[in-house]
Amino acid sequence: MSIDQPAAAPARTSTLAVVGAGSVGASVAYAAMLRGSARTIALYDVATAKVEAEVLDLAHGSSLAAPSTSPARIIGGDDVACVAGADVVVITAGARQKPGQTRLELAGTNVDILRDLLPRLLEQAPDAVYVLVTNPADVLALAAARIAGLPDGRVMSSGTVLDTSRLRWRLAERLGVSSRSVHATIIGEHGDSEFALWSSASIGEVPLRQWTDPDGARALTDAELGDLEREVAGAAYTVIAGKGATNLAIGVAGARIVEAILSDEQAVLPVSTPLSDYRGISGVAMSVPSVVGRGGVLRRLEVPMDDAEQARLEASAAALRSAQRSLGL
Ligand code: 2OP
Repeated sequence: MSIDQPAAAPARTSTLAVVGAGSVGASVAYAAMLRGSARTIALYDVATAKVEAEVLDLAHGSSLAAPSTSPARIIGGDDVACVAGADVVVITAGARQKPGQTRLELAGTNVDILRDLLPRLLEQAPDAVYVLVTNPADVLALAAARIAGLPDGRVMSSGTVLDTSRLRWRLAERLGVSSRSVHATIIGEHGDSEFALWSSASIGEVPLRQWTDPDGARALTDAELGDLEREVAGAAYTVIAGKGATNLAIGVAGARIVEAILSDEQAVLPVSTPLSDYRGISGVAMSVPSVVGRGGVLRRLEVPMDDAEQARLEASAAALRSAQRSLGL
């Protein structure tokens, strides 16, 4: 998996549009600017003063960002025409989780916002790849795919790219190795029913369950792996309890996905798209390891799963299906 590998330079004409100038949208734009993810970054929001201030604040730092590429052009405002011709549109607009609230509880409000917003964005950027970051990301990816009627793979959500980064960071800290040498992935819902693919996880070439501490004992028992997985699934609640929102890490995750698209990287990332008979699952969008390039999601990978993982994939789909049913999706 290449979640954390540097991307090739994006095509010179690449334009990223970020919809929503709240803390998540500003963080996606900021991370993309620092990483040199796109040549032009457009920020759109209906809140005029806020979006104009964020555009200025980003532009003021642009000459100092991404030393290895030319500074990005920063544009934007309260007119949806600012996203015209974008290659990738990242949607962050919508209500956000309050302390203790689940992502799925935001579904009704945010699907309504999407129904209004998406047709207007499609008029301006009909050829873009759409990346939903707003929660509940999987439900919104399914709703967006149905509203937009775009070809398969052109609509996705950031899914469990962030959760996977959280898991790799924690395993790296615990085992004393670089997070780039941790090959472990969270899949399923970006939310409470997500889970780790432990059966195929490895540190370098060593299967995770065979990794030993220097004294030769198995480093992580199944109970400890369960604790780590719960910590990752609860990580957003922990951050929201402390600072009211998560924004920085999701900003980097969003920029990472944008790079994979704009540079046609064919990177394997756990983004979320509507599934059609993926290991028997259809009618929900959720994260599975997927090949991401210029056209969006080009392919979903059939990864080996043990019986417990297959059961958890089905349970995650069931949780999403029940949220969708209440919205008439
Ligand atoms: C996150 O996981 C809240 O979905 C957001 O940080």
